[in-house]
Amino acid sequence: MTTDQAEEIALLEAEATAALEGALDLAALEESERAAFRSKRSRFAEMYQALGSKEPEERRVVGRLLNELRGRLEAVAEARRAELTAAARAERLGADRLDLTEVLPGRLAGHLHLVTQVREALEDVFIGMGYEIAEGPEVETGWRNFEALNIPEDHPARSPLDTFYVDFGKPWSVLLRPHTSPVQIRLLERGTLPIYAVVPGRTYRKDTPDSTHLPVFHQIEALVVDRGVTFADLKGTIDTFVRAIFGEGTRTRLRPAYFPFTEPSAEFEMSCVICGGEGCRTCSGVGWIELGGCGMVHPAVFEATGVDPEQWSGFAFGFGIDRIAIMRHGIADLRVMIENDVRFLGQF
Ligand code: DAH
Repeated sequence: MTTDQAEEIALLEAEATAALEGALDLAALEESERAAFRSKRSRFAEMYQALGSKEPEERRVVGRLLNELRGRLEAVAEARRAELTAAARAERLGADRLDLTEVLPGRLAGHLHLVTQVREALEDVFIGMGYEIAEGPEVETGWRNFEALNIPEDHPARSPLDTFYVDFGKPWSVLLRPHTSPVQIRLLERGTLPIYAVVPGRTYRKDTPDSTHLPVFHQIEALVVDRGVTFADLKGTIDTFVRAIFGEGTRTRLRPAYFPFTEPSAEFEMSCVICGGEGCRTCSGVGWIELGGCGMVHPAVFEATGVDPEQWSGFAFGFGIDRIAIMRHGIADLRVMIENDVRFLGQF
């Protein structure tokens, strides 16, 4: 091997290394690799090809040097590729970043939706009374939603005009729950008694949105099962949570009603928070606002879930969280809850 050859290899290495390390992006790196040693027209390839006409000894020595050089250049290129890939990824993440915690002057900080705030306030009241917070799925079986709740085959709520059915399993056997009451069945099915539970959750009905209806809304269900539970316990519990949410001066009353899963059943009402019971537009002049349904758990519900109605008794009630929210804040129209207008949401 001549000194010229040694110098040329050293020069080639210095130049190629500088080009590879200085490549500014992945495309430039590939280009430098080609120019340095991958392309057939690179100086490296030329030196390699020239070996063919050399003496065996020289061929061996220079060939080994060139192979070693290629190994080193490949390592340099690999290291630079890793750096560039990491940088490109960091840049992409930076560009995608959306800082939800950032509050610019004059802008609103994010916070929980009004419905979530009211749901949590209700949960707090019931936790304070020793209840557990339970949940059930939004897609429910017809059995838990109707049969086990003693709702007969010909009940209007079972009509596909009212309830969204899901195309799964036997026709009309699975649905989007139109109330949170099927979770009563889930709680009873657990087989652990007594039960003191409230169940908040999303519910679905085929309603056209108007000032008092939304097709997707929220309910909270309460179920208490213990020995010797009475109607007075039900009335006292309703009274307690309504006063906790709407203020000590708020009164409640029950009016006879019918629900298949309770007997006796009632609708519960509270004195109008706007006029204090005097009569106004919000309460249509009657001084009372209907909140939800309630009653003593029907023996048929106990029987469907294997609970002995001779030993256990209980009460249940259910009502809309969204309606509680508009009542609590004097809002005239439910639809603002789903419009996502920050001028509205930012007030709470
Ligand atoms: N599930 C009923 C509805 O959505 C409300 C209801 C009535 C719930 C009576 C109850 C109850 O727990 O006992 O209209």
